[in-house]
Amino acid sequence: MDDISQAFDRVIDRSQMSSDKWSKYPKDVLPMWVADMDFDSPPSIKMALNQRVEDGVFGYTHPSSALVSAIQSHLQSRYHWSVSGGHLVHLPGLVCALHLSVRVFSSEGDGIVVPGPVYYHLNKAPLAAKRQLLRVNMCLEEGRWVPDMAQFESACADPKSKMILLCNPHNPGGTVYTKAELSRIHALAEKYDLVVVSDEIHCDLILDDVLHIPFASLNQDAANRTITLMAPSKTFNIAGLGYAFAVIENAALRQAFNDEKAGLIPSPSMLGLTAATAAYQEGQTWHQALLIYLKENRDFLAARIAKTPMKMAHLEATYLAWIDVSALGLKDPHRFFLDAGVGVSDGKDFGNEKFVRLNFGCPRSVLEDAMTRIENALITQGLM
Ligand SMILES: Cc1ncc(COP(=O)(O)O)c(C=O)c1O
Repeated sequence: MDDISQAFDRVIDRSQMSSDKWSKYPKDVLPMWVADMDFDSPPSIKMALNQRVEDGVFGYTHPSSALVSAIQSHLQSRYHWSVSGGHLVHLPGLVCALHLSVRVFSSEGDGIVVPGPVYYHLNKAPLAAKRQLLRVNMCLEEGRWVPDMAQFESACADPKSKMILLCNPHNPGGTVYTKAELSRIHALAEKYDLVVVSDEIHCDLILDDVLHIPFASLNQDAANRTITLMAPSKTFNIAGLGYAFAVIENAALRQAFNDEKAGLIPSPSMLGLTAATAAYQEGQTWHQALLIYLKENRDFLAARIAKTPMKMAHLEATYLAWIDVSALGLKDPHRFFLDAGVGVSDGKDFGNEKFVRLNFGCPRSVLEDAMTRIENALITQGLM
């Protein structure tokens, strides 16, 4: 475990890797935006990929029974969720499944209920398909970001409503919904007969002693109306390899999803399948060490932010800090951070321009450097 933690401390030069994260901003800016960590992936994944590359033949490839079993064991052991292999749909990414779900399970003009601020594709998927976005505000309750349930009910009750797009754990804000919270949302979905698309891509990044509960695992009715979307990409830092999966228990929903997907969405790449298999089969020790490291990064960041006028609610999951910068009175917070030498995500992209999102999935020394740059800029501007 110690060796693994030391590996997280290693600063890796990604400047020559065509990395999206590292090419967006000028070289002297620390990029802390997109949900992509600056860590080496687990050795078991690298070994599996090397071995597969050595095979030298890269034709069309389907998901192996080993991958299906590894996913089933993962869901069973972590979430006590028993999933049939036939209910899995293998995908090259999760975002395409969000957009596809909206198009398959609703029609033009229908309403899609989305608690936000949220990862921007949950807003974009309805709007791009000419659906009406029925936004529910996330608000701070006892230090956690949760949807305003009165607004949630009115949005669901809107006669145009057809679907709820949920992000659990929530990005940004890091809320891990409790069973009681999920049950209240499910009660609305049942009452108003809505399909639920639950984006659970961050479910293996829980930093506190709380349990992630897949929405579909709540009860049979939830299972029947839910498309669950998951992936190893955020957890094991393999987003560039392109693999995600959906769990769709309802045969009619699965058929409709697969029919629309055919010919439009390609199969996952051979290397994505290889990496996903190794991740779920052999990534556990690395994963545990990662969670400890991220938790320490979160605590380090929270302590430094607490010394500034900025605010950050306690983050239960993810490595994406949602920082309230309203007290700074800045016209353009994203620009301010950029000028300080830190490339964060603009809160505006998620639905609140008074916030920024900072990715702390990086070596501690880089996080420390970023915080020092931000504090120096605040001091220089007389804001601290
Ligand atoms: C909530 C959420 N869903 C989906 C994605 C992206 O998924 P993919 O890269 O598999 O399309 C992200 C990436 O940041 C995310 O945060």
